[in-house]
Amino acid sequence: MRSINGQQLARNLGDWQVSGGTGPAYSRLAGAIRLLVLDGRLPLETRLPSERELSAALQVSRTTVTTAYDALRRAGYAASRQGSGTWTTVPAGGTNTPWAPFGPDHTEGTGRLDLAHAAPEAPAGILHEAFTEALEQLPRHLPTSGYDLFGLPVLRSAVATRFQSRGLPTTPDQILVTAGTQHAFSLVLSVLTDPGDRVLFEHPTYPNALDAIRRAATRPVPVPLRADGWDVDALAAAVRQSAPRLAYLIPDFQNPTGLLASSAERAAMAAELTRSRTVTVIDETHVDLALDASAPAPFAQHLPPEAAVTIGGVSKSVWGGMRIGWVRGDEAIIRRLAAARASFDISSPVVEQLACTEVLRRYDEFVTHTRDELRRRRDALAAALAEHLPQWTFRLPSGGLVLWCDIGAPASSRLVSTAEQYGIRLAAGPRFGIDGAFETRLRVPYVHPPDVLRQAVPTIAAAFRAATATAVQEVDVVA
Ligand SMILES: Cc1ncc(COP(=O)(O)O)c(C=O)c1O
Repeated sequence: MRSINGQQLARNLGDWQVSGGTGPAYSRLAGAIRLLVLDGRLPLETRLPSERELSAALQVSRTTVTTAYDALRRAGYAASRQGSGTWTTVPAGGTNTPWAPFGPDHTEGTGRLDLAHAAPEAPAGILHEAFTEALEQLPRHLPTSGYDLFGLPVLRSAVATRFQSRGLPTTPDQILVTAGTQHAFSLVLSVLTDPGDRVLFEHPTYPNALDAIRRAATRPVPVPLRADGWDVDALAAAVRQSAPRLAYLIPDFQNPTGLLASSAERAAMAAELTRSRTVTVIDETHVDLALDASAPAPFAQHLPPEAAVTIGGVSKSVWGGMRIGWVRGDEAIIRRLAAARASFDISSPVVEQLACTEVLRRYDEFVTHTRDELRRRRDALAAALAEHLPQWTFRLPSGGLVLWCDIGAPASSRLVSTAEQYGIRLAAGPRFGIDGAFETRLRVPYVHPPDVLRQAVPTIAAAFRAATATAVQEVDVVA
């Protein structure tokens, strides 16, 4: 079982007197820990620090911690056994299953609107056609075993052609088909890093990538992003100080900031990473979601072939439910990844691979549909926020799926708790970083139709007023 020490938990809890709700200190502490469990910052089955250690780290009485742990146990968010300490759990059954794994399905059937996850619905008609075509093709594959560590040759070839068309010469042998981009990243981490290696990443970043870095027992090295782009000097300093094994970057409509790295930024970062012989993993999940500006040439163009690993897929441009992604790398890396893959999932499903091949054959049609729809949704969300929450600020991204809002107060976790009661599920800013950062931020996806977003924003505004009004009152009381 993993564990968290008092100092680490205290950092994650941040301003728990404010984020943990109302009432006595023990109840706020319990509320703040519950929130960390709910949004995945505190993974399930994590051993909590002893009561003595946490009370010292938070500088509160031991009774406060003991009573908070009791409250968490009663509510089903902690369990303990004599001699084994206390660890995080979730209440059995029920609809309030947490999103500890950062995936989008947990609100289904709860009646809550999910604005925590950035995953649009499928373009039903054309995707159905692609699957129908895949079923037509299937009989040709039935006489084979259906297993292929690398992926179906026809799909590898279609993916390679797509890279070619973006200016990156690629052969099918340089492609490995995976079950989505997240699978690709976990596989890459498992093959290219050892426990204790340092992995550099943009701060903020995509939460599941951060979890994968931690799960691989590597050490995360955050590099802050500027409001308008990448801080190449900060990256160079981090590379010098930490000698990372791997860098994980999302240069195309970065999640959650929506930033798009310019050619100059790509070249400058690649030069630093090449000098230090860091392998760079480039996550291109959002590359085809260009709404205004199109993405510059692929980042891998600036790197030596053996140091560039590009991961991507069709989850955001077409549908996450396909669970098809890929890795592009030099042939030696691809062979190592394929060999390791045998112990994970062996091979990808044939029908989905055939459907994805068909999707790539008609890709422009799919992407045009997705982009047109997202542009309308982004603009509707931006207008509604400007009307109902004019004090919030954000940069309108030129692509991607989300607005990264500065909410003007360190109230993100608090807002998320309150919004649950208003029927809206949000993801707190700190979910996108480490050590409790981004409490003044909220990521709001525009993956729902304009009407849904227009209705949701006044409710978020009401929740925000309630959350910040309570916070102000409490600060007054404390003062
Ligand atoms: C940057 C980034 N990488 C990876 C993923 C996961 O992609 P997939 O569903 O293909 O595993 C996401 C999903 O939101 C993402 O935003």
